[in-house]
Amino acid sequence: MRGPLLFLAPLVGAAALGPRSESPTPCPGYKASNVEERGQSLTADLTLAGDPCDSYGSDLQKLKLLVEYQTEDRLHVMIYDADEEVYQVPESVLPRPHGDHGDHHKQSALKFDYEEEPFSFRVLRDEEVLFDTAASNLVFQTQYLNLRTWLPDDPYLYGLGEHSDSLRLSTTNYTRTLWSRDAYGVPYNSNLYGNHPIYIDHRGEAGTHGVFFLNSNGMDIKIDKDDEGKQYLEYNTLGGVFDFYFMAGPTPKDVSAQYSDIVGLPAMQSYWTFGFHNCRYGYRDVYDVAEVVYNYSHAGIPLETMWTDIDYMDGRRVFTLDPERFPQEKMRELVSYLHNHYQHYIVMVDPAVSDSSSLADNGAFNRGQKNGVFLYHEDDTLYQGAVWPGLTVFPDWFNSKTQDYWNGEFKRFFGSKDGVDIDGLWIDMNEASNFCPWPCKDPAAYSENNNLPPAPPPVRSPPRHIPGFPDDFQPSSSQHLTKKTQEKSSQNTKGKKAGLPGRDLINPRYKIANAAGSLSNKTIATDIVHAGEGYAEYDTHNLYGTMMSSASREAMIQRRPKVRPLVITRSTFAGAGAHVGHWLGDNLSQWDHYRASIAQMLAFASIFQVPMIGSDVCGFGGNTTEELCSRWAMLGGFYPFFRNHNALESIPQEFYRWPKVVEAARKVIDIRYRLLDYLYTSFHRQSQTGEPFLQPLFYLYPKDKQTFSNQLQFFYGDSILISPVLDEGLTSVDAYFPDDVFYDWYTGAAVRGHGSNITMSGINTTHIPIHIRGGNIVPVRTKSARTTTELRRRGFELLIAPGLDGTASGQLYLDDGESIDPHTTTEIQFQYRGGRLTIRGKFGYHPKDVGIEAITLLGQTTRPTGERRRDVKSDAPRQSVTKKTNIALTGPTEVRL
Ligand code: NOJ
Repeated sequence: MRGPLLFLAPLVGAAALGPRSESPTPCPGYKASNVEERGQSLTADLTLAGDPCDSYGSDLQKLKLLVEYQTEDRLHVMIYDADEEVYQVPESVLPRPHGDHGDHHKQSALKFDYEEEPFSFRVLRDEEVLFDTAASNLVFQTQYLNLRTWLPDDPYLYGLGEHSDSLRLSTTNYTRTLWSRDAYGVPYNSNLYGNHPIYIDHRGEAGTHGVFFLNSNGMDIKIDKDDEGKQYLEYNTLGGVFDFYFMAGPTPKDVSAQYSDIVGLPAMQSYWTFGFHNCRYGYRDVYDVAEVVYNYSHAGIPLETMWTDIDYMDGRRVFTLDPERFPQEKMRELVSYLHNHYQHYIVMVDPAVSDSSSLADNGAFNRGQKNGVFLYHEDDTLYQGAVWPGLTVFPDWFNSKTQDYWNGEFKRFFGSKDGVDIDGLWIDMNEASNFCPWPCKDPAAYSENNNLPPAPPPVRSPPRHIPGFPDDFQPSSSQHLTKKTQEKSSQNTKGKKAGLPGRDLINPRYKIANAAGSLSNKTIATDIVHAGEGYAEYDTHNLYGTMMSSASREAMIQRRPKVRPLVITRSTFAGAGAHVGHWLGDNLSQWDHYRASIAQMLAFASIFQVPMIGSDVCGFGGNTTEELCSRWAMLGGFYPFFRNHNALESIPQEFYRWPKVVEAARKVIDIRYRLLDYLYTSFHRQSQTGEPFLQPLFYLYPKDKQTFSNQLQFFYGDSILISPVLDEGLTSVDAYFPDDVFYDWYTGAAVRGHGSNITMSGINTTHIPIHIRGGNIVPVRTKSARTTTELRRRGFELLIAPGLDGTASGQLYLDDGESIDPHTTTEIQFQYRGGRLTIRGKFGYHPKDVGIEAITLLGQTTRPTGERRRDVKSDAPRQSVTKKTNIALTGPTEVRL
């Protein structure tokens, strides 16, 4: 029945337990038969082993098992219905990885074995059991799947996002619900905007592995102990199939890289996107926006990118400009101004298109309706909801015409001669959010209801001069766009429904713990059927944001072919990082949200492979304070995506509003920019290998148990440890230092870590502890700059932080900063050993007049004397020695230090 090497013997006597207490009738489980092994795979039939229990749907009688040794470190286990009628995540949304045809049976780090009846399976790495479904009988019903695995006591599990809970997941009475929703205030213990059904199980000395459950249906994943105190993790899913990918690790970094082989490597971002961004909801008009740009410049705080929220829209309708507050001509002047100053501009686009039939100029609606690209009811009437502009319709990303429609709208609004020439895109409300509560009988009633925030106050008068902007940059008299007649034409093709028939798509019997209540509440109704294959929203709800993301990325590429598009989305699904970045939604200006942002960001960057990540700096909802905003500016300087964003009714919080925040922002942007090529190099490496750029401490010290729950410090790349001050009124932090050597960024002093906390004090709000980890060489720019364009002209300095063995290494990646497929690149490896620095690699891209101007050795307590004294730069870290150099980045070389 089994292959001796690959597929271990069926387990004998490993009794499957009965169903969980919440199932009304015991479920019989399945019996395996016709087990066949073919090369790298095993297949079997699974037949219901007794009377159906029909707990939350009807039990399926016949299933199939497919096990594939896809690579030496990846095992694929799939259990699906024999008739293949059950919905599966479409390949068009998430293409599946396939085996590489190697003979992985024998080399595989993972082994699969199974029990025939009741069927259960185990995954092992050497003798270590990683996954064991004998914890219960498998349940596969029309609207409910259940599978439980044993876990070791007190496991260290991470992932299963999006959530704002601890990085290390709680192991007692803990439920993670995956169902996208608009989650203002990012509450704890709640489903949020996106869904990433992957967890990492870190077992210290015994290694790390990952489990990805490729399923987009709503689900509750429960982690708890059973009545006998045995630890388990259990999937309770509203549909789809069991589709598992096991990643062997054995290190956390390996798991991350292996996960990127499955869901795709993250998209590389342009150099400028790592600059500082400013945004808020509620800028009154284009003049207000321009004034903010000016104020940043006046305050000496480098602003790389200015953003505008839905305020620019006419009546908050996508693809329109408010003719009074954001007139087209002034918008174009604003963008030109920014571009002339090497700055960038981004605006928001929501998915929901206004269905305001009263407005004749509603072209985006008319064109979409003409092409039938929105969601429709079965009777071909438009499916309507209520979002910012009131009555709205929603694009159907499954419709093959929607991409063309979206490209067209982008081209018309952002690309044409008169369009707003944005550099990046912000997409929001794509869970999709709908203000109309289920059953949403009358969405029009929400058009003007009190849920909508008040419109911004009118344009101020008299208009004033904004320094740096042309004199005529003043509000013009109000002129409404001409209203054309609106025409509606429904060309939707309907009738087809994918997935099992006869399901209750609105009220499934199993209730996931959706914080919004019923599945359809405040979103698209789950019985809506999409065009094309006919997938139900019930099955594909969690994909909506990611589908909008890839469609929007494509539309941006159509506008500016060959240039990496920056798209920041709110809702994500597994694999989204290959297309877009993400911000962490509507957090609050609170200290706990400041702290929680670290864990949230780490999960996205290192586990979910969405490394372009950050939270709203200074907090979105509520009012920030000078102290919180200073601390957050310092922390945000080490988010990959660094943006200050604020809510409509909150007090202004641009960095120039308070003296301390000005100081903090200037200082951290200075450090961030000096380190920008280090960030870029590490980010690039993640986009090539999946090795995460941002990392929790246990990624670099996987055997040090004290790092496993640390979620308040993090590694910025492999070399830099960030230890922020954590609470109001504090000026000290107890930071953990693993058994290693670190160097203080500011002084260059060596700090010998001994696997214990070190209390650092005297940290005012304009300071953040930064340490370079021994063994690393960090390339920095010699000086910061006002924009990243200017920064790219600066020379480099290498900071050498010798490890405990006295050696160090590092990398530097350079390219043109924006091409999707750069023609030439430079990829340098630095090695330091025995007082000698070697520079090797590929030298394809040659930035003009940019070389290595200095080399600094950290941790030097004695000052050089005589001739060498001249080598010490006055602004270099105090406990360091700097040698001035003039090394062109054109070929290999060696330097004696
Ligand atoms: C919700 C988003 O999360 C927030 O960032 C934005 O400001 C508002 N929508 C208004 O567009």
